Amino acid sequence: MRNPLEVRDYLEQTFQREDPILDQVKQDCDAQGLPDIHISFQAGQLLTFLAGAFRAQNILEIGTLGGFSTIHLARSLQEKGRIVTLERNPRHAEIAKKNIQRAGFSNQVQILVGHAIELLDQMIMSQRDPFDFIFIDADKKNTPKYLEKVMQLVKKGSIIVFDNLIAKRGKLSNPDPQDRTAIGQHECNRLLAANKRLNTFALPVTIKSDGFIDAMSFSIVTED
Ligand code: DHB
Ligand code: MG
Repeated sequence: MRNPLEVRDYLEQTFQREDPILDQVKQDCDAQGLPDIHISFQAGQLLTFLAGAFRAQNILEIGTLGGFSTIHLARSLQEKGRIVTLERNPRHAEIAKKNIQRAGFSNQVQILVGHAIELLDQMIMSQRDPFDFIFIDADKKNTPKYLEKVMQLVKKGSIIVFDNLIAKRGKLSNPDPQDRTAIGQHECNRLLAANKRLNTFALPVTIKSDGFIDAMSFSIVTED
């Protein structure tokens, strides 16, 4: 069998273009001690491609971290497009703000600092316009709740993408009840698959250096 890492590296070397802006973002995030859990460049390009092909105008992101994925999403936008991105850690939000500014997207990106569940509840209460593209990449134990909330912030045709469907340890189809992260991931996967308002598929998209394979889900909302 061909080694998955060899395939990953070959694709990266063949297709990855120079990207000084995002290289700098990653360097700064590392230097500031942010956890090294950003999406990969390829996953980022997948987000730019999807949101761009879909002509998303109103994007919601849950989990900003240093703004790496936010900038990928922002690159898909036309002039009128906007992103709201939610981040619980004020220090991360500050770092993301600088990165987004340096990438030239300050006017199109709004960072909201706080607990995502509370921020989502506020958006639901205020009956804001639905989002047409949502990317969820935050704490995994709460992903089932994020799904429940975002279903109240979408319309027919909206797209929802989750990062990190795969638990790091334990049995995938029967995670350890003590492992709240794994339970959150598995529960969210089940809810996505069962949701009658969603048409969902999932793909392995990330191969970590230790060989760990992670996946993203892609859902389209089929009913208002
Ligand atoms: C990890 C990876 C992620 O993509 C994420 O969103 C959170 C955590 C991890 O590898 O621990
Ligand atoms: Mg992630």
